[in-house]
Amino acid sequence: MNYRRVQPVSAAGPSQGARAPLGGSAAAPAASVGAHSFGKVAVLMGGHSAEREVSLMSGSGVLKALQAKGVDAHAFDPAERDLSELKRKGFKRCFIALHGRFGEDGTVQGALEMLGIPYTGSGVMASSMSIDKVMTKRVWLSEGLPTPRYRLLHRGLYTHEQVRTIPDDLGLPLIVKPAREGSSIGVAKVQGYSEMAQAVEQAAALDADVLCEQFVSGDEVTCPVLGTGDSARALPVIRIVAPEGNYDYQNKYFTDDTKYLVPSGLPEGEEQVIQDIVLKAYRVLGCRGWGRLDVMIDGATRQPSLLEINTSPGMTGHSLVPMSARAAGISYEDLCYQLLASAALDQEQGVRKK
Ligand SMILES: Nc1ncnc2c1ncn2[C@@H]1O[C@H](COP(=O)(O)OP(=O)(O)O)[C@@H](O)[C@H]1O
Ligand SMILES: [Mg+2]
Repeated sequence: MNYRRVQPVSAAGPSQGARAPLGGSAAAPAASVGAHSFGKVAVLMGGHSAEREVSLMSGSGVLKALQAKGVDAHAFDPAERDLSELKRKGFKRCFIALHGRFGEDGTVQGALEMLGIPYTGSGVMASSMSIDKVMTKRVWLSEGLPTPRYRLLHRGLYTHEQVRTIPDDLGLPLIVKPAREGSSIGVAKVQGYSEMAQAVEQAAALDADVLCEQFVSGDEVTCPVLGTGDSARALPVIRIVAPEGNYDYQNKYFTDDTKYLVPSGLPEGEEQVIQDIVLKAYRVLGCRGWGRLDVMIDGATRQPSLLEINTSPGMTGHSLVPMSARAAGISYEDLCYQLLASAALDQEQGVRKK
């Protein structure tokens, strides 16, 4: 095991401003000062998950942005190369642009901890909790944070009777989804009892844990958070208006009909409430660096409910975190640079949960 000491970020060059993510473009240090002190940087992209294609798009955007900032950045696909090569090839820092399993779930983070190479985003525990929608909900519920009611089914263990009674408990329509997937993969909106079995089967094919969740009818929003602990801040809320309210894989990546509104158009007080909730939801999971939380707002009561947190969100030029950051005055390149500047290791941080 190699627990090499790593230079804290502030000593490595980038100014404190680079760690204050809401500082806007003024916060980004000149490329010639900070960029070289990062040393050789790997942008981890691709990988083995179902979201490989999206990750390749995120990674190439990040790579280009970092290179434009003068960073000695290189693409690295863990599906094609062994992570141990990072050390042998002299990489000093990683930007994780992987999504889903083996990227966003604490496994790559654990490997980088062992290698002693600082990486962007959340550490091992926060990543592995956050990838699991059920574990995440348990933490949020124990902290009094709002999230839709749910029932959990385990592949191979649930009975026909159990499946049949779920709509009695959660009402219809309801949502069935795998506990650890992303990009709306395997998510089904169940309208009637007869659709339950197929929806559960489809989710169970992707994950042993199947989450059945109360459907929240109303506005869908997403809100990024940048930073760590006390310095973490919520960025502007984005309201998502998908065709027929159906924000599935197709409507996420392949149609032009989904509208992303920032400013969100929500009443100011409501936007503030959502920002407060997502910030707390982020902190109680011990997240660091960045994240993006998906939230539904009940159309009748206007109560927000947290759906999930993404600890390695999409980073293509069209992705939601860059879109919200732009609205806060942070360019895509500055965002990439600031995230890289905040790269860290669990072992040097001692993440404090708020
Ligand atoms: N409980 C719910 N009520 C209403 N819509 C939901 C609910 N859960 C998920 N959805 C819809 O499905 C989409 C994907 O679900 P989400 O929990 O964010 O998983 P992921 O994005 O990881 O696939 C959401 O963006 C939302 O449109
Ligand atoms: Mg989501």
